[in-house]
Amino acid sequence: MAVIPVALADAPYEVRVGTGLLATLVEQCRGKLRKRRVPIVTDAHVHAAWGAVIENALHEGGHEATWRVLPPGESTKSWDQLAATLDWLLAEEVERGDHVIALGGGVIGDLTGFAAAVLKRGCHFIQLPTTLLAQVDSSVGGKTAINTAAGKNLVGAFHQPSLVLADLAVLDTLPRRELLAGYAEVVKYGLIGDADFFAWCDANARAMLNGDPALREYAVAHSVAAKARIVIEDERETRDRRALLNLGHTFGHALEAQTGFSDRLLHGEAVALGMVLAARYSARRGLIPAASADHVARHLREVGMAANLSALGLNCDGATLVRHMLHDKKMDAGTLPFILLRAIGEAFVAKDVALDDVAHFLDAELKR
Ligand code: NAD
Ligand code: GLY
Repeated sequence: MAVIPVALADAPYEVRVGTGLLATLVEQCRGKLRKRRVPIVTDAHVHAAWGAVIENALHEGGHEATWRVLPPGESTKSWDQLAATLDWLLAEEVERGDHVIALGGGVIGDLTGFAAAVLKRGCHFIQLPTTLLAQVDSSVGGKTAINTAAGKNLVGAFHQPSLVLADLAVLDTLPRRELLAGYAEVVKYGLIGDADFFAWCDANARAMLNGDPALREYAVAHSVAAKARIVIEDERETRDRRALLNLGHTFGHALEAQTGFSDRLLHGEAVALGMVLAARYSARRGLIPAASADHVARHLREVGMAANLSALGLNCDGATLVRHMLHDKKMDAGTLPFILLRAIGEAFVAKDVALDDVAHFLDAELKR
């Protein structure tokens, strides 16, 4: 097992990465489960796959699970599900000193974390991330949110978990498409600040995605350590450091909006395409050689991801995609910061990007 400390001054916690952590849940959570009944929020897919393991683990440790099983999918991150989950936690008489457990992907983690942030002005929560995306990104760092009619993740809070248990066994039941989507957030850490890790991904990603346990542990633990370093330096994204984690997200957000935030394009798939676009746009500005941008696209293609915008078959122009970007929550006083590359392994925040130039660039990419 790898243990990665997230050494925040006010709210330090550990992320543990290994196989079999859910089966030993009570031992892992020692000192945190104060009552016999343990409230767990999950979704129906995860409950079907892992509910019994959790039930047994709690039962053996003298506890009893009490479940809130939500519908799978992005639409669960809603006001309605938040309100219903809060009512349920109140009915369960959860107190500020108690821990609520989030068992699921980023949807469950974000919703449950936000509920924990506001329940009685804040109670504790534990993340049990069950997707690769949630293990390497969303369960760590304390961003929680729901979606509203105005857009994704526009209402939320920074609220750190007390513990994150990334059990690699759960990845065995994750659909391949979801695994690949989560991989985009793994390779992102190489692109933004770690050329050696990008090279490791080049050499090992396929075997890792095919299930090699040692490679999986290395990929998840290395990604979590990278995220923890950034979160410790810039917990609330006020210093341009945490913003680097948004590599590919501004382009990706426009693609998600154009495809209606639907199953047509998963978040991680949009991020993968967005990272290729960020690399190609960096090359257009002369920041990196075109060969480096091609390398990013080739790598994603080799692991099985779409790396060309034209493959999406979007019926729109670059200006339409740029209009979606204007609703991005990263807009700051009329400027949209873009994360660009100075090299593979060196990202930076560019605040001087002209959106009409981005629209021309996207026109060409849509036909590429
Ligand atoms: P998700 O939570 O929707 O899970 C994807 C699908 O996989 C769902 O159908 C789910 O039921 C299923 N699933 C999950 N674990 C499974 C398992 N082990 N076995 C079988 N099926 C399983 O999607 P996600 O990609 O994990 O998360 C996406 C969300 O994360 C988005 O809402 C995004 O905004 C958010 N996010 C948040 C942060 C953050 O820092 N808070 C970062 C990145 C993304
Ligand atoms: N996923 C981006 C962040 O946590 O800041």
